[in-house]
Amino acid sequence: VPTAGRVEFRDVTFGYPGAERPVLDGVSFVAEPGQTTAIIGSTGAGKTTLLSLVSRQYDPQQGSVAIDGVSVSDLGRHEMASVVGLIPQKPYLFSGTIGSNLRFGRPEATDAELWEALRVAQGADFVREKTHGLDERVSQGGTNVSGGQRQRLCIARALVARPRVYLFDDSFSALDVATDARLREGLGEATAGATVIIVAQRVSTIRSADQILVMDGGAVVGRGTHDELLESNETYREIVES
Ligand code: GTP
Ligand code: MG
Repeated sequence: VPTAGRVEFRDVTFGYPGAERPVLDGVSFVAEPGQTTAIIGSTGAGKTTLLSLVSRQYDPQQGSVAIDGVSVSDLGRHEMASVVGLIPQKPYLFSGTIGSNLRFGRPEATDAELWEALRVAQGADFVREKTHGLDERVSQGGTNVSGGQRQRLCIARALVARPRVYLFDDSFSALDVATDARLREGLGEATAGATVIIVAQRVSTIRSADQILVMDGGAVVGRGTHDELLESNETYREIVES
């Protein structure tokens, strides 16, 4: 399996326009291809903000964010879509059909590829049950599909695009434990070779990650495997035991 998508943060500081204090303060880490990096931390710690710098919704005020050695600020919008697949915390759909939503990042994808992505994302059953299947219309904001279905469609959309970097922002917390496990097992194969970054709340979701970053107040305060952090990191222990 070819691997690519190495994400490197170097001493990144970022504050939202107009805000007084930075939300990320001196963040450095590397997320390696073929590995899963999990990010855990309390609400407001800066997890979503960190992902938004990878997908270049914002640029850092200081420091650099690079993918495979290229600064993300040098990637065009179109290029970005094929490099980074973000599954946002509040998943959204475009107005159109289920199929057009799934093809957003790769218009030439075949129906068979869409169904395969849906199968992995645990979404094939509910799409099959829709009267028009892939041609079923969804409205902007996706109000005629449930929150959980919207989430699965966004995961499938990212899979169809085959990016080098996958960013899952809290995509699994709302799933029941069995679906969560099944979904992540399939994802492991589908995303093999890419860099996977998962923001998560459940310990079962992050336990098997190759690397866990613990965030607190906009800084990375711990890094390691589950066992290492249990040994060494008070913040991690508090999160895991809460
Ligand atoms: P949870 O998703 O609740 O677990 O939090 P998080 O770790 O994802 O935090 P996030 O990155 O969303 O927010 C970090 C800080 O930035 C918080 O203090 C937010 O209030 C603030 N923040 C987030 N988004 C915005 C924004 O669009 N504008 C401004 N001004 N502040 C923001
Ligand atoms: Mg968040």
